[in-house]
Amino acid sequence: MNLGDPVENLEDEATLQLDSNGELRHLLTLKGLDKVILTQLLDEAEHYRTAPGSLPARARSLEGRTVGNLFFEPSTRTRASFDLAGKRLGADVLNLDVNTSSRKKGESILDTIYTLQAMQVDFMIVRDAGAGVPAYIARHVSDHVSVLNAGEADVSHPTQGLLDLLTIRLHKGGFEELTIAIVGDVQHSRVAMSAAQGLQTLGVAELRSISPAALAPDPENVPGARIMDDLDDGLRDAEVVMALRIQRERIGNLDGIPGIDEYFANFGISEKRMQVAKPDAIVMHPGPMNRGIEIEGTLADGPSSVITEQVTNGVAVRMAVLNRVAKTMGTR
Ligand code: NCD
Repeated sequence: MNLGDPVENLEDEATLQLDSNGELRHLLTLKGLDKVILTQLLDEAEHYRTAPGSLPARARSLEGRTVGNLFFEPSTRTRASFDLAGKRLGADVLNLDVNTSSRKKGESILDTIYTLQAMQVDFMIVRDAGAGVPAYIARHVSDHVSVLNAGEADVSHPTQGLLDLLTIRLHKGGFEELTIAIVGDVQHSRVAMSAAQGLQTLGVAELRSISPAALAPDPENVPGARIMDDLDDGLRDAEVVMALRIQRERIGNLDGIPGIDEYFANFGISEKRMQVAKPDAIVMHPGPMNRGIEIEGTLADGPSSVITEQVTNGVAVRMAVLNRVAKTMGTR
């Protein structure tokens, strides 16, 4: 996509999201967010969790505010999660139907943003296939508006990263002693990038990235990770295993990508393959899941799986982020 603007580098995004007091104004990336901010966001999110079966947490802190969901790529859980997070904090939530939006008629993304801004939308929740789009929007919005990245190309997905961190912390108590294995198409996964950035800041014993060579990431994109290509070695003694979908829509040339059966045989996470991991290891997946390709159905539904908890934690994390960013809104 031609935005008429150079794609910003990630250092820029990290600076741009903080105001002059170092407070979170936008959420564009987990890169550059220090341990204190990450921990405070996780603490607040934890506070929004309620016991399964009970009513969800509610607050009125966003009353009078408007959250706009602008998802220019498919989404089920992230969009629903932001929608519920906004409503449970008392905000009005506007879900833009991108298939009928003026952007389809050639309107530039900024004109769409300015239109929503004129309707006093305070939060722009943006998912887009173009790298740099959330930062580009953040550079152009009015002072009172905040931009939250809900999935940026293969670059980052910071609220997913936070919900993964929260899920790990709730099960394992902390991070320092952990061996964490991320398995699958790490190269094209914004989920893996954000998780790696957050885990790097919080400090883990070992982070492993396990994939076939054709799907292995650029080491620079998964800071501190050990890049591996053997599943048994990668799962050995791991406490946390995160399976990822093959992002076929982001892979131009499928040469070198194994077929489904071969992929499952070599890189699919199953109850059998998990036997080399720690006995109390948890199994994660950001969804959407392809059962029988990257993960065995019985494992996904079994006792070690925390996949549905990740979804619950996603709403709590998004409530924490909205609330945190809202605090700086009156002061700009
Ligand atoms: C992921 C995404 O869209 O980045 N899903 C999600 O947000 N939970 C992962 C994917 O599409 O595979």
